[in-house]
Amino acid sequence: MSGSRTGPPAAPHAGPPAGSLTSPEDRWFTRRQVTAFMTVLALAAALGTAAYQAGERLAGTAGGAVVTAATGTVPDGGALYAGNCAGCHGADAGGALGPALSAPAGWSAAGFTQAVLHGRTPDGRTLSAVMPRFDAAGLDGSAPTQAQLNAIQAYLNTRP
Ligand code: HEC
Repeated sequence: MSGSRTGPPAAPHAGPPAGSLTSPEDRWFTRRQVTAFMTVLALAAALGTAAYQAGERLAGTAGGAVVTAATGTVPDGGALYAGNCAGCHGADAGGALGPALSAPAGWSAAGFTQAVLHGRTPDGRTLSAVMPRFDAAGLDGSAPTQAQLNAIQAYLNTRP
């Protein structure tokens, strides 16, 4: 790059022809203004897309993030319940589309686990397909752990 260049010799914007009162650039945007405007538009679009995607990521992992953060210690049964079960069994586990879970709260851990993971109750019933088989679905995007199931059942036992 040479610093001595002062510009193109024959500038396209050399000015109005003699006799003209206004140059075309007084009435319309200059090429530079248009370029700046387009750049701002492109930036805004990119920012909007990025913000939208970030929002989606947040929404998609909100439930799981809580759980993942907790798996190192004791899983948060209330959060797991809210994220996976409340939509069908009610926010208070009192029943909605699915039945109230007060009885299963008292099942053995093995019986409760069997029902939630495989859809079979301790008395040998096969639950309807509406009830997810969480061994396949997972509770936070990965295979459910016994600690998670115990935490959910413990949480249910805190419900009246
Ligand atoms: C998509 C809706 C839905 C979701 C989500 C759901 N369930 Fe269910 N659940 C049902 C339905 C419907 C039944 C009743 C099925 C039947 O009786 O055949 C049921 C039955 C059950 C039963 C057996 C209840 C009984 O007394 O026989 C248990 C235990 C249970 N669900 C636990 C859970 C847990 C724990 C979660 C979350 C990890 C959960 N469910 C998520 C719909 C759901």
